[in-house]
Amino acid sequence: GASCVGAAAQSRYPDRPVTIVVPAAAGGPSDTVARLVAQAMTPTLGQQMVIENKGGAGGSLGAGDVAKAAPDGYTLLLYHIGVATFAPLYPKLPYKPEEFSPVGLVTEVPMVLVGRSDLRANSMPELLALLKEKGPALTIGTAGVGSVSHLCALLLANATGAKFVDVPYKGSGPAMLDLVGKRIDLMCDQTTNTVNQIKAGDIKAFGVTTRARIAVLPAVPTLNESGLKGFEITAWHALWAPKGTPEPIRMTLSAALQKALKDPTVIDRMASLGTVPVPDDLATPAALDRQFRSEIARLGKLLAAVAPN
Ligand code: MLT
Repeated sequence: GASCVGAAAQSRYPDRPVTIVVPAAAGGPSDTVARLVAQAMTPTLGQQMVIENKGGAGGSLGAGDVAKAAPDGYTLLLYHIGVATFAPLYPKLPYKPEEFSPVGLVTEVPMVLVGRSDLRANSMPELLALLKEKGPALTIGTAGVGSVSHLCALLLANATGAKFVDVPYKGSGPAMLDLVGKRIDLMCDQTTNTVNQIKAGDIKAFGVTTRARIAVLPAVPTLNESGLKGFEITAWHALWAPKGTPEPIRMTLSAALQKALKDPTVIDRMASLGTVPVPDDLATPAALDRQFRSEIARLGKLLAAVAPN
């Protein structure tokens, strides 16, 4: 009968390519993490994992596609902390992010406040002085409302009292091209999209957003030590499935994710980009579920304090 066919199909999961929706442009931080992990999960699953980039509206559009997809394990979402900021920032969102079926956490990425190479400030104190000068507000590139670059820009405006002109892109990959091309002034973005450009001298680094300095950029002070007391934000990334995805499928994906995160290529590449894969016990549905719920609560309060309604 039909139920036997269903059970057989499920036990063979996956029997065709799996799509991972990255709700941001190709070449950006989420895309970088997704492609690394997808490639490393492929041999374990025995099927290709295909990345589909769908940027726009801070990632809420691509996430919405996954929310509406069949819960059969063939359409997944890889994105970050931003998924926990959609609900408070988009009151009319047509889905509830907390209803995604969790698969597991992937990595937690530090961020860096960076500027175009010819900006008239070479350190955080000089940038703070520049922000105090009257004149046109500096432009800051973001991946749109709800993205983590936008969240960092909000925190920065709140901590400095400065006004910025937000220039939204479909992802911080294209925003970085404009920063390198000196068409925008600033960005606060993940190390996965900033370390190489900083090292190449294509952009300037003003400060890292972590409590301690980071190994890949040892000379860059923390924003906290440069006067923005308590400034801290990092971007955890995770893999989700649509609401109602069966647990056996999520456990298959979690096991493949755990294996991928131990792949030496993934570990090396992540290390060179300033991040590390999460340990096994976090690459699980249960750990992501816990973290997501507490982050929705934490970020809801934070946004109520810093976001101009
Ligand atoms: C963000 O700013 O939220 C991300 O960097 C989006 C992206 O991956 O482009």
